Amino acid sequence: MDYKHSSVLLEECIKGLEINPGGVYVDGTLGRGGHSLEILKRLDTGLLIGIDRDPKAIAATRDTLGEYADRFIAVHGSFGNIAGILDKLQIGKVDGMLFDLGVSSPQLDDPSRGFSYMADAPLDMRMDTSAALTARDIVNGYDEKELKRILYKYGEERHATSIVSAIIKKRKIQPIETTLELAEIISRAMPAASLREKQHPAKRTFQALRIEVNDELGELEKMLEDAPDRLKPKGRIAIISFHSLEDRLVKLAFREREKGCKCPPKLPVCACGFVQTLKVITKNPITPSEDEIKNNPRARSAKLRIAERV
Ligand SMILES: C[S@@+](CC[C@H](N)C(=O)[O-])C[C@H]1O[C@@H](n2cnc3c(N)ncnc32)[C@H](O)[C@@H]1O
Repeated sequence: MDYKHSSVLLEECIKGLEINPGGVYVDGTLGRGGHSLEILKRLDTGLLIGIDRDPKAIAATRDTLGEYADRFIAVHGSFGNIAGILDKLQIGKVDGMLFDLGVSSPQLDDPSRGFSYMADAPLDMRMDTSAALTARDIVNGYDEKELKRILYKYGEERHATSIVSAIIKKRKIQPIETTLELAEIISRAMPAASLREKQHPAKRTFQALRIEVNDELGELEKMLEDAPDRLKPKGRIAIISFHSLEDRLVKLAFREREKGCKCPPKLPVCACGFVQTLKVITKNPITPSEDEIKNNPRARSAKLRIAERV
């Protein structure tokens, strides 16, 4: 089955990267290759390294981007390991990097992956299907405190306490195996008023589980630590986030690298040794137009931040 994905803030990303046709670029979240295709079209002697932790994304883009095989390398891995991936390819620094965080529409829409509360499937939610931890392990194995922490922090779910109690009660009888089973437990645990909300009652819990299964914030932190050091001077990094916690990490990491020295202002000379390594290009994040949101409602919460290596 062919699951489509509309690339978010496509023009804005491509414009923001200021692509040099002979340059080396990284698309750290290949997905179905929408952003990559636009980068590839603009390269002649250049090279694009496309990374994704989902083997299905790698297989799909090997086909769809096949005509650019002379300037495209697809790598199965996590962008948290950007330094290791570039080292292995014997590439030092690159001209630009793009990260379009989160899940792709093909992942959400493929019921067998377990990301959706609308279709029944085993509780999986792994982007990398070779990884060990699944949503089933978390739902049936994490203790009460840990489950609540995830739901509050990653899902901003204010009914975390009642949802977690319901999960624990149910799993004492038998393990919770499927997405619809979990969605039903969540709906029953919610107060009646919350069931009248526009969004599905399971949305926030499912988001929280997905973030935990894939250690999405941990991988983002590792990437933010290493990626700017692999940019050539004037090389740009563009990051699209969909969650306030992600956007905050990106904003703070960019700001810290723009500021450089971390010494207290009173110190007469710098003792920390940190120097400015990034210049922030987007003082405020770029967000999708009303038109884009109308055509692709999943773009609604997107925020694009761009910085340039100094
Ligand atoms: C929003 S989609 C990207 C869509 C893509 N820009 C396009 O236009 O088709 C996010 C993709 O990033 C991948 N992904 C998420 N976290 C990742 C990570 N830490 N390392 C590598 N890939 C990751 C997901 O598997 C998914 O395919």
